[in-house]
Amino acid sequence: MSGPGFAIRPMADAERDAIVALWTACNLVVPWNDPAADIALARSKPNAALLVGCEDGRVVASVMVGHDGHRGWFYYLAVDPACRGRGYGRAMVASAEQWLFQAGMPKIQLLVRETNHAVMAFYERLGYATSPVTMMQKWLKTASP
Ligand SMILES: CC(C)(COP(=O)(O)OP(=O)(O)OC[C@H]1O[C@@H](n2cnc3c(N)ncnc32)[C@H](O)[C@@H]1OP(=O)(O)O)[C@@H](O)C(=O)NCCC(=O)NCCS
Repeated sequence: MSGPGFAIRPMADAERDAIVALWTACNLVVPWNDPAADIALARSKPNAALLVGCEDGRVVASVMVGHDGHRGWFYYLAVDPACRGRGYGRAMVASAEQWLFQAGMPKIQLLVRETNHAVMAFYERLGYATSPVTMMQKWLKTASP
């Protein structure tokens, strides 16, 4: 369970490198996304936030949350591999859900790489279900300069 030494809050400026290290350790960094740019973009918009979970002041979990005025979205849910199984992931999702509920969003959606079966099982445990849709995409900006 998430214990008394665990607290969730918006990230602080000085925590950027720790968050990128966390995402790297959790295999969430892919060549077509620049994590530092993703953090800067989310923090520059009023309809997005990056929440961190800290254990005794150290960043051990994250979730990026945002909405497009119609639906809420999660990104970069991560718990330090050394800190899993303590309820931190569940607590991060609950905080993200609360953030979106307060923003007036009626529904949450998230994307999972189709090979990431472990996180699908995690989300199913938390009451999420696979949506019968196909995502289509088009880049408006190249991923690398
Ligand atoms: C998914 C992740 C955030 C879970 O974090 P965690 O702190 O270990 O999860 P919790 O301890 O809060 O677990 C919550 C519940 O989910 C269950 N659960 C956790 N991982 C699970 C898994 N791989 N399969 C099935 N159930 C799982 C737990 O048993 C627990 O159930 P309970 O509360 O009913 O007993 C973590 O494994 C992670 O960071 N994974 C890598 C990053 C990633 O893939 N992120 C998602 C990108 S879309």
